[in-house]
Amino acid sequence: MSGLPRRLVLGIGGGIAAYKACELVRRLKERDVDVRVVMTAGAEHFLGAATLQALSGQPVRTSLWDASAEAAMSHIELARWADAILVAPASANVLARLAHGFADDLLTTLSLAASDRPLWLAPAMNRLMWAHPATQANVELLRARGAHVLGPASGEQACGEVGEGRMLEPEAIIAALSIFEAPQMLAGRRVLVSAGPTHEDLDPVRFLGNRSSGRMGFALAEAAAGMGAEVTLVAGPVALATPAGVDRIDVRSARQMHAAMLEHAPGMDVVIGAAAVADYRPEQRQTRKIKKQDDRFTVTLVRNPDILLDLAALSPRPYLAGFAAETEALEDNAQLKLQAKGLDLIAANLVGEGLGIETQDNAFSVFWRGGSTVLPRAPKTDLAVSLLRIVAGQLAAKGGRGT
Ligand code: C5P
Repeated sequence: MSGLPRRLVLGIGGGIAAYKACELVRRLKERDVDVRVVMTAGAEHFLGAATLQALSGQPVRTSLWDASAEAAMSHIELARWADAILVAPASANVLARLAHGFADDLLTTLSLAASDRPLWLAPAMNRLMWAHPATQANVELLRARGAHVLGPASGEQACGEVGEGRMLEPEAIIAALSIFEAPQMLAGRRVLVSAGPTHEDLDPVRFLGNRSSGRMGFALAEAAAGMGAEVTLVAGPVALATPAGVDRIDVRSARQMHAAMLEHAPGMDVVIGAAAVADYRPEQRQTRKIKKQDDRFTVTLVRNPDILLDLAALSPRPYLAGFAAETEALEDNAQLKLQAKGLDLIAANLVGEGLGIETQDNAFSVFWRGGSTVLPRAPKTDLAVSLLRIVAGQLAAKGGRGT
């Protein structure tokens, strides 16, 4: 289950980021979301309605006064039809009109008529327009009324400037939307997640590492925050942006990750070990760059501490979830790890064949004491929500801290 709204009105505001709306529609459709596009007059300067019509498979609405479209589904009916409204990009103008209750075009009128539906906004504009007190006040007003504001991100802007105001990428918007069916399931919970690989240094320039991208752990941190949790993310060396509202601690080696996780675990309700922690590290880290000498070069490796195993010894002990990436005997190995590491839940996946490490998608067999389920192949962002729903359900069932 993706957790996304089944019926979504996508409002597109006027801005260069409107081109990303095409990709957004395509990816939403891939996940079986029924999308009805509403464009503002500004959006029509950037995109043709025909493109979005082809991508969404539905007529695109641009005007309150389009007689034939209104006859098919009036703005009131469209508002009733929608499970949620997403405005992406939300320009400064759209934000201002939404904040002040204008009803001077189809999108704003529809948003008023759908005010009992969740409203998601993905702002996009020049950095100074975003930083302007008027825009900030409008955003605060919308937030205070319950709108979910996604981003914006920082970086290079279409106008050539660098700063805050870029629209989030379609996948990030979908990840945020995917908590639609699991809102606030983790409200009041404190969640600690580890993510990414660890790098075990051989000398000042070389290390032993692995191919973990960190995507699963980051998706879990983002989804947990979206579901209302207070989230701390301990990240190995990865090139990923920190999800909104998440406290991030960067580490490099397994021992640093071990120290950070043990420091932050007390008081947590849930700890999820999604990091691919190196089992071994070089016995010695050379202070100078190792020179090539003989044909053979031997490095002695020593065991790293097992983070989850040590966390299982805490008292009180948080709810502990781990991962098992296996190349064979998935269920047997997962069950063994569940017992050996003293976990409450383990998500096991086969690695290789385009699944698992380094990929966008994954699939899990999930085991806990007395139960199991299969989460079929899906983007990691969707799997994160599905896993956290299981965790939230088990936490609620057993009571415990945070309830
Ligand atoms: O034993 P294995 O490495 O397959 O177990 C994987 C699970 O254990 C993951 O959840 C990983 O984050 C965690 N782990 C750990 N400390 C280690 C190695 C793995 O917490 N040293």
